[in-house]
Amino acid sequence: MPSLSDQHIVLGITGGIAAYKSAELVRRLVDHGAEVQVVMTDAAKAFIAPLTLQALSGRPVRDALLDPSAESGMGHIEIARWADRLVVAPASANFIARLAGGMASDLLATVCLATSAPIALAPAMNQGMWSKSATQRNIATLKADGITMLGPNSGDQACGDVGPGRMVEPAEIINHLTISEKIPVLDGTSVMITAGPTWEALDPVRVLSNHSSGKMGYAVAAAAVAAGAAVTLVSGPTALDPPPGIQYRPVRSAEEMLAAVEQDISTCDVFIGVAAVADYRPARSETSKIKKCADSITLELVRTPDILARVAQQVKRPFTVGFAAETDQAIANAREKLHNKGLDLIAVNQVNETNNPFGSEENHLVLISQSDEIDLGRNSKAVLAEQLISEIAHRYHDQHST
Ligand code: C5P
Repeated sequence: MPSLSDQHIVLGITGGIAAYKSAELVRRLVDHGAEVQVVMTDAAKAFIAPLTLQALSGRPVRDALLDPSAESGMGHIEIARWADRLVVAPASANFIARLAGGMASDLLATVCLATSAPIALAPAMNQGMWSKSATQRNIATLKADGITMLGPNSGDQACGDVGPGRMVEPAEIINHLTISEKIPVLDGTSVMITAGPTWEALDPVRVLSNHSSGKMGYAVAAAAVAAGAAVTLVSGPTALDPPPGIQYRPVRSAEEMLAAVEQDISTCDVFIGVAAVADYRPARSETSKIKKCADSITLELVRTPDILARVAQQVKRPFTVGFAAETDQAIANAREKLHNKGLDLIAVNQVNETNNPFGSEENHLVLISQSDEIDLGRNSKAVLAEQLISEIAHRYHDQHST
């Protein structure tokens, strides 16, 4: 079992119906060997009794900033210093706004402000509140401040709405904590990642492309940086900001992506092809805009280079990982791709009614190698990216220790 033994974890609980999941989270943290100090806001106490959390954590719950008895013992600064990690689950819209504003208006916000420990938030709120630009601004501010967001997931909400805003499950939070506990695992290695779609020009104003948002590839790049790797991200056009601390190589077409990959691939230890590279491009890209005269036109398409296969075919090749988005017989088709392209590992996302990864914050990944198959399940792309990087790191090190 993954271990958090000797980890001091402060679990912040704010007001929201998802607070009922916090009891399960405390129990699992304790099972993983962590020492847990629960800090609650007043609103949280309307949803779950402090006594429940005290019984599960074995420590009195802390809730008051101005508490003379606590200040002589474990006051807010002591809690901030004691913490190795701080997790707020659920994190309400109100709490997120207070944190983004640097407020020290209650014990939990004050501990977050005072601590130098890493902070992760598991937001939980109504989908309309989550989507509001004020909340999204606050989330962007907190991410820029180095705070990790776990979720939220999409689905049925307690209020009857359907959409993003459900708190991630306790198991996903534990996964995040145990995986980040093990980093850095790719220290000293160089990792190249392709991401996003490609644009294949028809004429100066039109392109052939696909629905890839780049979110999965960017999450993998962020997880690889967190794991200690030197990361090069070769990205087709997306609306995303490149993760901090990487070499960023923006490209448009498959040909440009190949050229950027070939430039640095000889010094890479790991290559992860997450990009949804166009398989075909127009045989000609017209120099002037195609006029709408004829009732129909026929486009001739030609194959683009298979970047992943070319990387895998190199004599001195990196540990090579591909992605496969499949609508039918996903596992069998991906296994064939693993074999045909000569990959070390392939991550399969099934595209069907329950999982359409394009543009979504979530995905469902299955990892396949020559010798095993691991279903990582459905999760946020950030958590899946951490799990994928952890798997790659173990396999890369196994390969290089023999
Ligand atoms: O063969 P298929 O396109 O399904 O394979 C998907 C995998 O191959 C992905 O990892 C993708 O990044 C990579 N690929 C590539 N160059 C192409 C087509 C796919 O690198 N032209």
